[in-house]
Amino acid sequence: MVHPTTAVAPGRDSLAGAIQPTARRWPAVQGIAYGGDYNPEQWPEATWAHDVALMAGAGVSMVTVGVFSWALLEPSPGTYEFGWLDRVMDLLAAHDIAVDLATATASPPPWFSRRQPESLPITRDGQRLWPGARQAFCPSSAAYRTASTALASSLATRYANHPALVMWHVNNEYGCHTCECFCDVSAAAFRRWLLDRYGDLGRLNEAWGTAFWSQHYYEWEEILPPRLAPAHGNPTQNLDWRRFSSDELLECFKSERDAVRKITPELPITTNFMGAFKPVDYFAWAREEDVVSNDHYLLGADRAGEVQLAMSADLVRSVGDGGPWILMEHSASAVNWQQRNLAKAPGQLRRNSLSHVARGADAVCFFQWRASRSGSEKFHSGMVPHAGTDTKVWREVAELGANLRALAEVAGSRVVCDTAIVWDWAAWWAVELDSHPSADVTYLALMRATYDALWELGVTVDFVRPDADLSAYRLVLVPSLYLVSDEAAANLTNYVEAGGHLVCNFFSGIVDVNDAVRLGGYPGAFRQLLGVRVEEFFPLPEGATVTLSDGSTGQVWTELLHPEGADVVATYADGPLPGAPAVTRHHYGQGVAHYVTTFRDVATNRRFLRAVCDEAGVDGPIIAAAGVEVVRRRAGAASYLFVINHTEQEAEVPASGHELLTGARIDRDLVVAAGGVAVVREDVHAIAATLGRG
Ligand code: GAL
Repeated sequence: MVHPTTAVAPGRDSLAGAIQPTARRWPAVQGIAYGGDYNPEQWPEATWAHDVALMAGAGVSMVTVGVFSWALLEPSPGTYEFGWLDRVMDLLAAHDIAVDLATATASPPPWFSRRQPESLPITRDGQRLWPGARQAFCPSSAAYRTASTALASSLATRYANHPALVMWHVNNEYGCHTCECFCDVSAAAFRRWLLDRYGDLGRLNEAWGTAFWSQHYYEWEEILPPRLAPAHGNPTQNLDWRRFSSDELLECFKSERDAVRKITPELPITTNFMGAFKPVDYFAWAREEDVVSNDHYLLGADRAGEVQLAMSADLVRSVGDGGPWILMEHSASAVNWQQRNLAKAPGQLRRNSLSHVARGADAVCFFQWRASRSGSEKFHSGMVPHAGTDTKVWREVAELGANLRALAEVAGSRVVCDTAIVWDWAAWWAVELDSHPSADVTYLALMRATYDALWELGVTVDFVRPDADLSAYRLVLVPSLYLVSDEAAANLTNYVEAGGHLVCNFFSGIVDVNDAVRLGGYPGAFRQLLGVRVEEFFPLPEGATVTLSDGSTGQVWTELLHPEGADVVATYADGPLPGAPAVTRHHYGQGVAHYVTTFRDVATNRRFLRAVCDEAGVDGPIIAAAGVEVVRRRAGAASYLFVINHTEQEAEVPASGHELLTGARIDRDLVVAAGGVAVVREDVHAIAATLGRG
């Protein structure tokens, strides 16, 4: 039964400063919010008072509560145990700590799975996934939707007027473990989705190219999810399955969102994204949220971790239309789920956190507050480590809290870029389908090659959909766009025609939205824009390289290209196509379109992009040493310069203004210690002087 809260809690008015009631959108907390996932149910109640005292001391202003509490909140169907959560909420309110309350639906309890076995997900090869971990639910399960929405409603009813509650955290990392289900219920949902997309079977047969391999459908019931089959499955079926699976999870989010919104219409609602996460189209999802939030974890195997972090942050800011966003999770030190879980070096926690802030985050949160004692994440770091507060991690957590308070005025400012990278989930899904010319053409590798070079050049980028308004950008990069709609192709073409600069990589513009090849020569959709015609692909053997006429090398791909208006900038010196054009440049309308037909070596790619940035008149970078990250946020006339020194040497950057972390006055030369961070509120006249590349 749901009771109104009996908690004796202070009214919102008494929550001096931290909690701002009502605005539907973020910010819910003043300044830069600070905190993490708080799972008090894993600890004896006696620990809680100590927790909140520590939180208050470290400047924690917002915690996410209840993410995995379903089993404790609802011990049996429709029976709720809110008592413990009431006490947690009251305690937090009393210490002026705001709550981003989870709907607690990410992990159905064992009783639910036992009663509703059909809600357990089925893999492509027909295996059922059992309870015992988390996220064991089929996204199309009606029983799951009903039960999760009921719990979300009950929580909203219970805490609607609670003074600690400032926002909703729906579910958790949708799709992280279970992003698709191949059961019969999902099959029926897929058919409904297809009916909606195509209207009739004739159109579906046409779009899927079912004349091939005797796949023509006569009845809707014949259509299945792309279950394990004897050979390569129908590519368009697989592509539509990806679209459907992203949409189906979004429906789960929307049903919980609508349930809580009905009861607390004034509170912002989010669900945490995972950056460059393939299964879910975050551009589509972000439109359904009040504010976007992101989880980011460094991968030990990625030696350029700070670059991977920056890309995740830029991507999430971009899917949220450039508005402030929430860093909902990152780690204070090591995680537990990689083969070797690297602890963070001293100072790395601060650099990582402030890189996110530099790129637009207005909240810095960790998974999790207190490192667990039991369970599979017990060796995952927390803000409070197993070893307690006399530790590197805790001291850095407390220092970061003070830093974020010093940066309060940065909240609400925006990152403004004049360079964009085109990103599209459908193109990602499609380019990585099987039976392609080369399995070495992978989306993230191409994205990272472009992103990493720009990061090193100090050029901050937005990510944009291919059909976005591009008029604000001087330079648009297209690292990989195998699939493109007619409208998006026209958008990119018009952008260049009107004076834009564009760089396009090989194997882009190849198919339409149904994965049907654009005929008449590659790269079909961009032939006119790029002024080329490609007659045949010549992908390279694994690990092989080719030499170009400029001495650079290429990997993965070559192709037989004929210029049709484009100038040849470099040719192949060896490999399967000696003498054939490798890099071209086309004046089109008022703009310029470059085309690169191979995966070039890092140094050449960086040099090339540097020249393209110069030609396009891109702002920045501020001259800084390699490994020194420089990013600006702006708000009206105010400009904040973030300098994050990832190197082991002191760095100098030209800047004038007020350094917010130390309070120092900076005149012309900002010195940032090895591994240190500085944030300067710039003198307005100084900004123009530091713009422009050196
Ligand atoms: C996230 C998840 C958290 C926690 C964390 C560990 O994927 O949302 O609940 O598991 O990873 O790194």
